[in-house]
Amino acid sequence: MEIIRLYALLVRRPIESSRGAGVLSDSSMITFKLEDRVFILTGAGVSAESGIPTFRGAGGLWRNYRIEEVASPYAWRRDPRLVWEFYSMRRRVAGAAKPNPAHLALSDLEAQLGDRLFLCTQNVDNLHEQAGSKRIAHMHGELFKSRCDRCSSGPFPDAATYEPPAELPRCACGGIVRPHICWFGEMPYQMDEIFQALDRCTVFIAIGTSGAVEPAASFAARVTRRAKTIYVGPEEPANRGAFADWYLGPAGELLPELFQGAMT
Ligand SMILES: NC(=O)c1ccc[n+]([C@@H]2O[C@H](COP(=O)([O-])OP(=O)(O)OC[C@H]3O[C@@H](n4cnc5c(N)ncnc54)[C@H](O)[C@@H]3O)[C@@H](O)[C@H]2O)c1
Ligand SMILES: [Zn+2]
Repeated sequence: MEIIRLYALLVRRPIESSRGAGVLSDSSMITFKLEDRVFILTGAGVSAESGIPTFRGAGGLWRNYRIEEVASPYAWRRDPRLVWEFYSMRRRVAGAAKPNPAHLALSDLEAQLGDRLFLCTQNVDNLHEQAGSKRIAHMHGELFKSRCDRCSSGPFPDAATYEPPAELPRCACGGIVRPHICWFGEMPYQMDEIFQALDRCTVFIAIGTSGAVEPAASFAARVTRRAKTIYVGPEEPANRGAFADWYLGPAGELLPELFQGAMT
């Protein structure tokens, strides 16, 4: 742990926070009180060490596609085959991935905190589930589910790939089956439940998320006046001013240490 912390300190110095002095925490553990309610927000960075490239990272996953041509209602209307080609590729990449120590640390934390932990993920992979987490709000949808684009059929489990020359999957109603993903311009899922949990939490921890994608980017600012706000990831997020503490480093290395003996 000392080596990791030293590395973290070498790559980043503490940064200014709009609340005053945000600090690079020098504690090697995060502890919770019995009355704490913990909101965890995860982003693509949590799955990076499992081999799933992040959106903004240098990985090849997104590079061959212009995001607006594959992840928007407009893209779907224009070329559903291209959209399915992209999500088929993502299903293949995510289908081969295994949870890393960050996912496992979060499922261990759930085992300790029970329903005092709310896990909200922007990730569409199923690595939190594979690690054993039980209650997960997938605000951007799930890669291994599909639904009809016309009627209310679905979402239902679907791990198939639909790439040319395969036909587009059809619903009995005649609609086209689409990925159960929240595309740009669509409303994220489970937002009522998510805002309720945000308004109740006493500790908010964002892990591996750039703080650039709304509405998740505003969650920390919503709670920062009354909850302890913590960021975990290798670099400062765009919304860093909303965090009181941060731990800089890869989630798979930091989380198992940070949550060790989490209950006081
Ligand atoms: N695995 C997935 O399901 C997946 C993958 C890529 C993108 N997305 C989608 O793309 C959008 C992008 O938003 P986002 O903020 O989640 O991701 P992002 O790509 O915008 O940012 C990724 C963040 O992860 C951090 N990171 C990189 N390696 C890390 C590590 N080892 N440990 C911890 N953090 C690390 C980066 O510093 C960055 O801040 C979301 O809507 C998300 O649904 C999902
Ligand atoms: Zn239908």
